[in-house]
Amino acid sequence: MNASTLHEHELNQEALIATITELAVPGKGILAADESLSTIGKRFATIGLENTEEHRRQYRSLLCTTPDLGDYVNGMILFEETLTQQDDHGKPLPKILAEQGIVPGIKVDKGLIRLANTLDEQVTQGLDGLAERLTHYKEQGARFAKWRNVYRISEVTPSLAAIKIGAENLARYAAICQELGIVPIVEPEVLMDGDHTIEHCAEVIEIVLMELFSALFLHQVHLELMVLKPSMVIAGADCSQQNTAQEVAEYTINVFRNNVPAAIPTINFLSGGQTPEQATTNLNAINSLDIQPWLLSFSYGRALQEPCLQAWQGKADNISAAQDTLYRRAQLNSLASVGEYTGETSSS
Ligand code: 13P
Repeated sequence: MNASTLHEHELNQEALIATITELAVPGKGILAADESLSTIGKRFATIGLENTEEHRRQYRSLLCTTPDLGDYVNGMILFEETLTQQDDHGKPLPKILAEQGIVPGIKVDKGLIRLANTLDEQVTQGLDGLAERLTHYKEQGARFAKWRNVYRISEVTPSLAAIKIGAENLARYAAICQELGIVPIVEPEVLMDGDHTIEHCAEVIEIVLMELFSALFLHQVHLELMVLKPSMVIAGADCSQQNTAQEVAEYTINVFRNNVPAAIPTINFLSGGQTPEQATTNLNAINSLDIQPWLLSFSYGRALQEPCLQAWQGKADNISAAQDTLYRRAQLNSLASVGEYTGETSSS
């Protein structure tokens, strides 16, 4: 390394440490607001709102300007377009977040494509040109990134091919991020779709995590400088036998203790289709077991946003009520992240 590259490397290391220090804080979690154009369209359809750029700007500006959201949220994952959007007064949304003490992050994967020679399994694309894109996002204020890989449970899936290629892609993405001073959120999402049991889910998440950490090791990813964003170990949405929060917590902790190195500073679960209340209750149960080596918090999309979106209904008059709803949901999840949620009327 010559002197200037060495200096750049040191600056990137400092940036990684500063960001992970802000993201791994007890009692705080991440708001995932990085829905792609088609996904946000589905969310808006639930309130009969047209999916236009202006509506997306209004909605995401409502999220970012929620008063004191930084009390419970320390990071927000944005979709590319949001990085360049502004609130009604012309202030860039990433700047508003930074002023709230919320670290702006960016979803960098380019969605899913079919994995050939499998039973319609999918793999995430977006590694080509990733370093260049990340450099650009960094200039726009992003300090961490997210890449989501999905695994579908059926009798014959996920295949070993899907598990290995998913792990490899996540690890290559994480290595690229760290080299550029961007903290990677590594998201292996095992979908809740289907009628599989919790035991089956545990087996799948176990092998997914095992292959993931093997790939992260191979690519020399610094575990201390990344965030893991996994699914909880939970029965499929159509499984006739649903489990208690205590059971979800026990299965989840058992699988994670056996497969996630203690060097990972914080595990921020996705909600994956759980109702807001279910996601909070399960997170609380997870944090009510023994002391664990990592923080166990949230990086919820739907479970934080659904009540807020419903309260908003696309109407300016409802902005304040919608923001109150988001703030309250974040507060309840903050309580759950330290095992102090006692139900929807919990107070801190
Ligand atoms: P959900 O919490 O709605 O699953 O969203 C989290 C996320 O970022 C999915 O990639």
